Amino acid sequence: MSFRVSNGRLGSIPKPPTTSPDIQGLFCRLMQPSDIDQVKALCAECFPINYPENWFVQITSSSNLYSLAAVVGNRVIGMIVVEVKPFGFCNPEDSSILSYFSSSDTKVAYILSFGVFKEFRNTGIGSHLLQQALSYLESEQMHCKAVYLHVMASNFDAIKFYERRGFKKHTFLPGYYTTIGNQLGDGCCYVKYINGGEAPWSLRDCLSACWRLPTWLCTRCKRLWRIRLASTEARFL
Ligand SMILES: CC(C)(COP(=O)(O)OP(=O)(O)OC[C@H]1O[C@@H](n2cnc3c(N)ncnc32)[C@H](O)[C@@H]1OP(=O)(O)O)[C@@H](O)C(=O)NCCC(=O)NCCS
Repeated sequence: MSFRVSNGRLGSIPKPPTTSPDIQGLFCRLMQPSDIDQVKALCAECFPINYPENWFVQITSSSNLYSLAAVVGNRVIGMIVVEVKPFGFCNPEDSSILSYFSSSDTKVAYILSFGVFKEFRNTGIGSHLLQQALSYLESEQMHCKAVYLHVMASNFDAIKFYERRGFKKHTFLPGYYTTIGNQLGDGCCYVKYINGGEAPWSLRDCLSACWRLPTWLCTRCKRLWRIRLASTEARFL
């Protein structure tokens, strides 16, 4: 959940055709400007944030965002909004989602907004929207290495939802949601690595690699020694 759209645009994103889900009466399609009032109602129910008007205009009409709506009849009942950008354009608090050595051109995806009306929750709509977005981001065309998002630290249902779908907590962001009421709301950054993307090495990873290095070298040397011995024996036969 975020109200920020960065400037790290990749230009107009090619949108794949969306497939119809296997849920009766429901289909997914890209959002359009005429959805704006329904999207406002959805956000009002889902998020404790007063979004500015131009945010709604952006998410329903920008060709730089992947905004997918779940629709029944003419009603928008859920949505997911994703921004694809180069890693180099991540905000400072998210600049460690990939290794420091990753190219700043590496594509990453940020889930700006994701929600389903309460009456339709727990019926698989959220999973379907997320799966559609992930398929798009994993595709050869987009080839993103990481999908990340911010969530309020107290939003346990959403956190559980993301964790069960392979997202890992990357950072705790104290006071990230400063606009909620007069209270500071803590946030978390969650990341799912795709297309071979990897989290940066932690100190623990480095120590564990150092610990394993001598064993690895020993195995290699033994194997080389055995090959050499075998070829020497073969020469004398
Ligand atoms: C997070 C959110 C989008 C999930 O949407 P959803 O439509 O409820 O998601 P699903 O129905 O696919 O999955 C929710 C749970 O219902 C279960 N479920 C799915 N289909 C089901 C069915 N037919 N019957 C019963 N349960 C079902 C899922 O297994 C899932 O549980 P799990 O996470 O333990 O696996 C929704 O809870 C929401 O809008 N929350 C408020 C906004 C929010 O917090 N957004 C995230 C901010 S970052």
